[in-house]
Amino acid sequence: TITHHLHYKILYANVTRLNKTKQLVSVNGQFPGPNVYVRQNDRVYIKVSNHIREETSIHWHGVRQMFSVWADGPSYITQCPLLPNEHYTHNFTIAREQGTLFWHAHFAWQRATVYGAFIILPPKGKPYPFPIQPKADFPVLLGEWWSMDVVDVEKYGLADGGGYNISDALTINGQPGLLYECSQEDATIMTVKKGETYLLRVINAAVNFQMFFQIAKHKLTVVETDCSLCKPYTTDVIVLAAGQTADVLVTADQDVDGYVMASSVYSPAREDYVPFPTTMTSGLFMYEGARNKTLKELDFPSFPAANDSTYALNYVSNLRSLHTKDYPVKVPQSVDRSFLFTVGYSIVECPLGDVCHGPLGKKVGTAVNNVTFQAPSISILQAYYQRTHINGSAMLGGSLELAKSAYQEDFPSMPLLQYNYTGETPANLHAMVGTKVKVVDFNKNVQLVLQNTKNLFFESHPFHLHGYNFYVVGMGEGTYDSQKDPQNFNLEDPPAMNTVAVPAGGWVAIRFLTDNPGVWLMHCHFEMHVSWGMMMVFIVKEGDGPREKLPPPPKDYPKCASLDKSS
Ligand code: C2O
Ligand code: CU
Repeated sequence: TITHHLHYKILYANVTRLNKTKQLVSVNGQFPGPNVYVRQNDRVYIKVSNHIREETSIHWHGVRQMFSVWADGPSYITQCPLLPNEHYTHNFTIAREQGTLFWHAHFAWQRATVYGAFIILPPKGKPYPFPIQPKADFPVLLGEWWSMDVVDVEKYGLADGGGYNISDALTINGQPGLLYECSQEDATIMTVKKGETYLLRVINAAVNFQMFFQIAKHKLTVVETDCSLCKPYTTDVIVLAAGQTADVLVTADQDVDGYVMASSVYSPAREDYVPFPTTMTSGLFMYEGARNKTLKELDFPSFPAANDSTYALNYVSNLRSLHTKDYPVKVPQSVDRSFLFTVGYSIVECPLGDVCHGPLGKKVGTAVNNVTFQAPSISILQAYYQRTHINGSAMLGGSLELAKSAYQEDFPSMPLLQYNYTGETPANLHAMVGTKVKVVDFNKNVQLVLQNTKNLFFESHPFHLHGYNFYVVGMGEGTYDSQKDPQNFNLEDPPAMNTVAVPAGGWVAIRFLTDNPGVWLMHCHFEMHVSWGMMMVFIVKEGDGPREKLPPPPKDYPKCASLDKSS
């Protein structure tokens, strides 16, 4: 095995975009952060050290973390955030994954500026299992830029609930691109040679948006989704939910020239959306030997409408796992545990003395099965380990009492009331606030249906599950029918993903085998929705066998300040 030692210093950096300089949180002073390249089976040690005045933690989005949940990173879920001057070394092995993932901060809205690609190459000497071997690869990170400090953006969003999350620019590799003032010169350029094929590693790291992506006059062939091989699928425009990644082959088969590559917002909630310029970012796909063009001479590709849900639904429905003899998939054919979770907006009581602008004069929130997530005071993983291991408290140094009160195991398996999923009745809206988890045994086949509720807005929620790749076995519009819909499930070659968009006013069904014990967060990958509480946690128990246990916590595991005070 190859071992990588990396050091992420969390530092402030001054960065200028849209003609304005601001101080932001960065890794090693870089924005976007470093792109990591590793291979299957490699061992990775990444030391994260906090040199800023806020807390921080880093998550390796889509890395399975088999039996290494300690390294996953989400604040208050698998660790406490690092305080100023603290550090922690994430230690994990890359399993069978291959393809493109990313890493990002997992504390408040820090991931707006703290992110980078996490690329897993095939084993040394082994070619890509693609129809054509690419000449080179090119990470394409889609992101968002605020001129304001994102700490304030979150604050305003929490206090109010409208207009809050519209960033000042969308970006490709941190650059707003051709259509923004003072940004043209710095637009991201991918230089290509006529006749060659390239691998684009497209990552949707945007904070609150799903995105379309395309290159003018060029076909895109998707060969991997969320680090899982898929049957080559050729299209003009790809769709990425926030948190999703796609590996795409593109051949430079047009005239020697410069072409616009662009990404535009997909948001069913925004029928009245101003389509330009803050909803599109662009760069150049530039042939060697091509003459530079002025902005006026460039042809911009046209996109599906910002709210074209049908396009998005069709796109996902066309994806299939590669599923060949060399790369088989194992889709659970039977189900041991079946869950139905509603996801949507909710209303929560307005704090005393505040003025709230949500429905009925209350606050806008979000919920899963009408539970609005509340962060615990110590991390759930720490509490779980203390609760389930006799020497857990001794190892982690905390009180069992605190661990016992950190979370409740009564997250509902089904919606609590009879909801009307497509109506706008206030009955869909009321949520309770709590830190509730769903406990599942080791090595069980889970089926989870996520049902969108159409209250307040028509929004599609990109749901991300930590620690797993799940199969998307079915998806549809309207209310899920537990009798009829399973008859149309694809149990042969459904796409494997770590993030899936729950269609606006529709549902999606996923299946996975609980072969990775630990505490695994599932949440909407829109930061605003997370701030409002759209998260829940699965605890997958350890198995009975000796190889089905979690390793003990690492020596430098970040415990919580509140715990230090109490002990
Ligand atoms: Cu991409 Cu919970 O994260
Ligand atoms: Cu959401």
